[in-house]
Amino acid sequence: MQAVDWRAEARAHGIDLTRLPQHIALIMDGNGRWASRQGLPRLIGHANGHTALRRLVHGCAELGIRILSAYTFSTENWRRSAEEVQGLMSLLARSAREELPVMVRNGVRILFSGRLHQLSSELQAILRRAEQATQHNDRIILHMAINYGGRVELVDAMRAIAQKVQQGTLCPEQIDEQVIQAHLYQPDLPDPDLLIRTAGEQRTSNFLLWQTAYTELYITPVLWPDITMEHILEAVLDYQNRERKFGGVPAGASAR
Ligand code: IPE
Ligand code: IPE
Ligand code: MG
Repeated sequence: MQAVDWRAEARAHGIDLTRLPQHIALIMDGNGRWASRQGLPRLIGHANGHTALRRLVHGCAELGIRILSAYTFSTENWRRSAEEVQGLMSLLARSAREELPVMVRNGVRILFSGRLHQLSSELQAILRRAEQATQHNDRIILHMAINYGGRVELVDAMRAIAQKVQQGTLCPEQIDEQVIQAHLYQPDLPDPDLLIRTAGEQRTSNFLLWQTAYTELYITPVLWPDITMEHILEAVLDYQNRERKFGGVPAGASAR
């Protein structure tokens, strides 16, 4: 297969390569609908969803995106049938194991966020190995949210902070936004610049609640397994045509 030069493609789309979003968050939705439209089991949709993510990681690395945060399994997704949950967990283990050599070779650093201790010890070990084996890579970060919920992330941060207050190593007056940020699962990652949700739903479904306060949202009807780099380029172009104000007034606007 001919490799595509995604930087050249981006330029041809009118994208300014000096103003790429540094961090893109992905709500990978629509695997079930993709499968049922073709009369296939939901798990086939999830398997194709994994392939789609793999494609994007390598394309985005080549484009020059620094971080991808992928919503992989939410704290609410345990509500699905035991068969689907089990299938999703097996798929995760298999992808993490089989993809690891390619990720290592391509300079991908893998990070995980979520209540990982509630996953099977076998899966935890696979995830830990993937983090360790890629810890020195710096071409792109693939940050996967597994058994992740924005609310439980804040609960976990509050518990850790409360413990420090109880031990007397922190006073309530010292708690500010920086202290809360420092107790999140990945305190060193910058906030996402752009959040892309596939399959048309207009909600965040508990993803990165703290971190997306000023993230630009882009929703596409495309179902996740069908997503390609072309869709990412469209989202990046849309992002570059927006004005991020962070509560301020646009540069150069008159005071009157
Ligand atoms: C997203 O696809 C994958 C996960 C939430 C694990 P869905 O499985 O939610 O797909 P739809 O929304 O049913 O189409
Ligand atoms: C969000 O999708 C979670 C993931 C993509 C992992 P859902 O399909 O679970 O979200 P809802 O239920 O439509 O809000
Ligand atoms: Mg869904």
